[in-house]
Amino acid sequence: MQRLANKRIIVGITGGIAAYKSAELVRRLQDHGADVRVVMTAAAQSFITPLTLQALSGKPVHLDLLDTEAEAAMGHIELARWGDAIVIAPASADFIARFAHGHGNDLLTTLCLAARCPIAVAPAMNQAMWASPANLENIETLRSRKIPLFGPAAGSQACGDVGLGRMLEAEEIAQCTADLFENNILTGKRVVITAGPTREAIDPVRFISNHSSGKMGYSLAEAARDAGAAVTLISGPVNLDCPDRVDRVSVSSAQEMLDAALNVLPADIFIATAAVADYRPDKQANQKMKKKGDGGPLTLTLIENPDIVATVAKQEPKPYVVGFAAETQSVLEYARGKIERKNLDMIVANDVSQAGIGFNSDENAVTAIWPDQEQVLERASKQQIASQLVELIAQKLAAEG
Ligand code: C5P
Repeated sequence: MQRLANKRIIVGITGGIAAYKSAELVRRLQDHGADVRVVMTAAAQSFITPLTLQALSGKPVHLDLLDTEAEAAMGHIELARWGDAIVIAPASADFIARFAHGHGNDLLTTLCLAARCPIAVAPAMNQAMWASPANLENIETLRSRKIPLFGPAAGSQACGDVGLGRMLEAEEIAQCTADLFENNILTGKRVVITAGPTREAIDPVRFISNHSSGKMGYSLAEAARDAGAAVTLISGPVNLDCPDRVDRVSVSSAQEMLDAALNVLPADIFIATAAVADYRPDKQANQKMKKKGDGGPLTLTLIENPDIVATVAKQEPKPYVVGFAAETQSVLEYARGKIERKNLDMIVANDVSQAGIGFNSDENAVTAIWPDQEQVLERASKQQIASQLVELIAQKLAAEG
């Protein structure tokens, strides 16, 4: 569930027996890649200790609006700005009432007032309390403000009653949290992405290849899927699992990658992140080549591989074609040349000579280039760069009509 990777989630815990499930929720959100911070109300601390949540989240738990030390470390306004979403689980009837009426009488309600990010509420209370007119009115107020409500579920309750008011299970809340980040900017679009290296066989056991990890292409596949697209990932040999709900076609050589690409067209968007070998041996030996043992050199003749992205850019109907340019010098200049030469709509340039970005690393810093415009995307995780690129591509596509 890539949608939570690198997302900053504030889990707000209020007083209710379901607070024991919040420990599991923190874990699940982290398993899905989120960075989690916990805020507890005073009542919550009667049900579960801050120490448990601190140990799980690996961060100090935020408890008190008036704690000068905690405020100095990360004040409530700063915390409100930090979060990409706030999830209140469990949300007690009392919290819901205070939240609905705009109170700011503890850290959590104040945080909710200060936050500009989505705030979601997972109610948990006895079924009679849930059904009380006052609570239902407060819930209606939240609905009218478009506050996402996660649950409640119906079923047996800690108090022995059966009915509506149970908090959803941790994994269900994690899934609902991920859904907060789904956008539909590419809904109905077909996206084809090439990723990873290619292998050009010398003989049955040897090949020419490169260090591409495939991470950028895989991150783009997840970002495009999360934007609602149907994604086909044409992948060279990499050590990455196929993302959920993405079709992967595994290939080895450049020629296989080209065949696979032409086979899955037409598409609305074609993104070429693959580090395709420019050359391949002119012939592949049928048997493992033997060392000559005469001390002399071995000469391999290499012939040029087809240019996959340029070939795709010649197809009709032409997809919106995005190339990548990994360079070690004159990065922008070479990239601009490639836009024209390969008939691309956009190119993403990165300087692979810089340590810690580009090839085989988790971060990247790139410049998106169009024939008439450029935009720098500062250093960030490949997932974040991927989301930003998908947004830019979707904008351009929409502008082209
Ligand atoms: O020419 P260069 O390899 O630097 O171009 C990089 C861009 O072209 C990348 O988007 C890469 O995936 C694509 N490419 C390709 N087929 C090739 C060589 C490069 O699709 N044979």
